[in-house]
Amino acid sequence: MSENNNRSEKDDGHWRIERDENKIVWLHFDTPQAKANLLSQAAIKELDGILANFEKDLPQALVILSDKKDSFIFGADIKEFTTLDNKQQALEFLQRGHALMNRLEALPCPTVSMVHGICFGGGTELSLACDYIIASDDKKTKIGLPEIKLGIHPGYGGTARSINRCGPLAAMNIMLTGRALNARAAKKIRLIDEMVPLRQLRAAAEKYALTAPARKKLPLLNRLTNSSLVRPLIASQMRKQVAQKAKAEHYPAPYALINLWKNYAGDTKHMLEQEAVVVADLATTETARNLVRVFFLQENLKSQGKQTDFDVAHVHVIGGGIMGGDIASWCAIQGYSVTVQDQDPERLAQTIKRAQYSFKKKFKRDRRAIRDANDHLTADHRGAGIYRADIIIEAIFEDKDVKRALYESIEPKMKADAILATNTSSIKLEDLSSCLKNPGRLVGLHFFNPVALMPLVEIIRGNETDEKVVQQALAFGKNIGKLPLAVKSSPGFLVNRILMPYILEAVTMVDEGIAPEVIDKAATDYGMPMGPIELADTVGLDICKSVANILSEALAMPLPDNLKELSTNKLGKKSGAGFYKYKNGKPVKNKNANYSNPQEVQDRLVLRLINEATACLREGIVDDKDLIDAGVIFGTGFAPFRGGPLEYIRSSGIDKLSQTLDTLKTKFGSRFEKDAGWSNL
Ligand code: NAI
Repeated sequence: MSENNNRSEKDDGHWRIERDENKIVWLHFDTPQAKANLLSQAAIKELDGILANFEKDLPQALVILSDKKDSFIFGADIKEFTTLDNKQQALEFLQRGHALMNRLEALPCPTVSMVHGICFGGGTELSLACDYIIASDDKKTKIGLPEIKLGIHPGYGGTARSINRCGPLAAMNIMLTGRALNARAAKKIRLIDEMVPLRQLRAAAEKYALTAPARKKLPLLNRLTNSSLVRPLIASQMRKQVAQKAKAEHYPAPYALINLWKNYAGDTKHMLEQEAVVVADLATTETARNLVRVFFLQENLKSQGKQTDFDVAHVHVIGGGIMGGDIASWCAIQGYSVTVQDQDPERLAQTIKRAQYSFKKKFKRDRRAIRDANDHLTADHRGAGIYRADIIIEAIFEDKDVKRALYESIEPKMKADAILATNTSSIKLEDLSSCLKNPGRLVGLHFFNPVALMPLVEIIRGNETDEKVVQQALAFGKNIGKLPLAVKSSPGFLVNRILMPYILEAVTMVDEGIAPEVIDKAATDYGMPMGPIELADTVGLDICKSVANILSEALAMPLPDNLKELSTNKLGKKSGAGFYKYKNGKPVKNKNANYSNPQEVQDRLVLRLINEATACLREGIVDDKDLIDAGVIFGTGFAPFRGGPLEYIRSSGIDKLSQTLDTLKTKFGSRFEKDAGWSNL
């Protein structure tokens, strides 16, 4: 975005100064050898020096912009965050950022942040320290303060400054949810002053720099919500809302943020000082360490699909049922041209109807996006799409012979280099690929239900799958916005294998007479998003039973009595009753249910799960420890603040958990036998 006819001061650092004929300084952020800008300690130090010089030789105005394509500043450098050992170190780290932001805010000339593309965390905080923030209205522009997702809250002055700018309700909302806003939404809450088309962005920044218009005051009502009289009341409401989603002992950051606001808003200087102290505290908690770990696990999964290019122009999905229908609409939402085939024309009509509903849910009032997604998806009863597809995703009945018959009929019609992906959840890939002339082209692409909400997709590597095909499937998984994980072909793959002993233990406890409510509470107290009994009801007891059957054969896990005989009107949520009765889609729970030893219930659940995770490590189901943790977190929602099952063993202490396992084995038998995989930890 620089203009070559202007005077530019170049060096090898992060920032480049360009002076124009109006004496405006255009300060370009351009981290060397990096795709994106991070507000690292080095970038902060350098910028601090630059601002110190401007104090002595004041420009007419200062505009901060990025030289990176379609991104402004991604935030602070999270890697640096992981090096902080203690609170004092964390506090000094944060105070350097504070000193910079205060210096920028105090600069006596107009300052403008010119945002195009991603502007998160520290990038938003830097912008908030400027007098004006203007942004492009481009789709790629996203502005937010997502720190809460890492177990902290904004720590470079973003709390007080966003509240001063937007008022407490809007500012606290974006900080507590960590959600990113597009330019329109950011303008609506006054987070930015103006949004303009990208081609006019520089001119708009120049206008603000030269005219320095007065900022409008927040409306009176908005200001009143920040007064010391009403803050305690609003804060208690906010706490209640947060409590519905996160327990304070598991996720302290949102509660700390609410307290910070309640106690210090109204005195910006004091609030800023306290902000750094609170974030220094939070940054060194186990929760923050684990959430940062989860962030890197996610990045690791995203990078799995980067080794190969796989240009997919057309996706063909066979089977328009629960899974196939949702996979097809998901791919259409991601912009792919998709045909969906089903043997049953009526089913296919329902598939398209359901897809339209998904598009509306996803894009809300964005009619153009809904129309585009509709255009991308075509019902294809006869399978004309097979001839041109680069990837065919099969999601028909879970029946080996039916799947093999289909493969034999479609292989001659497929393009020579097209890959065939099956969504099977239990059939061995080798049993399917043996009917193909080219068995190397079959790979597993195991999505989770509901497709739109579950981030993970397991990429199943059969004994005969070509490595290139595995890499292509990983790339496809990444390109459709999922987190792909390569998994060895073995019963239950990774996620169902680890989840099933935990669910079976829960059902066994129901057999023993322990109330489902007690069991589910033990799991949610540990940090699971939903208890195992409610989960079994949600997935469907018939589906649970069929996965459990496969695993009980392969891994010698006996089926609990409660799963042996199922009646068709008690299959879980979908039939209105299972372990619980359902009213308006919600389980009716007995609030008074109790049990004398809830800790033992929790231990039984958790230890079955983590013991199976160590078995998967030993058997090399995925390539390393971190990938097991990643798979379990993103495939099951396993308590992210615990960092994953194997990380939980490490942080709780191997000896302590081994002892608990021994106690459970003495009492409940060999299913609590410590797996040999513990020695690999
Ligand atoms: P479903 O029964 O809802 O849908 C299957 C669809 O395939 C039906 O619409 C049927 O008409 C169609 N079909 C069957 N044979 C066909 C053929 N030869 N040609 C064209 N269409 C055909 O089944 P669902 O639940 O969607 O499962 C599909 C696959 O996904 C299975 O392999 C299952 O194991 C797997 N899966 C299911 C999950 C779930 O939660 N339901 C989760 C993950 C994987």
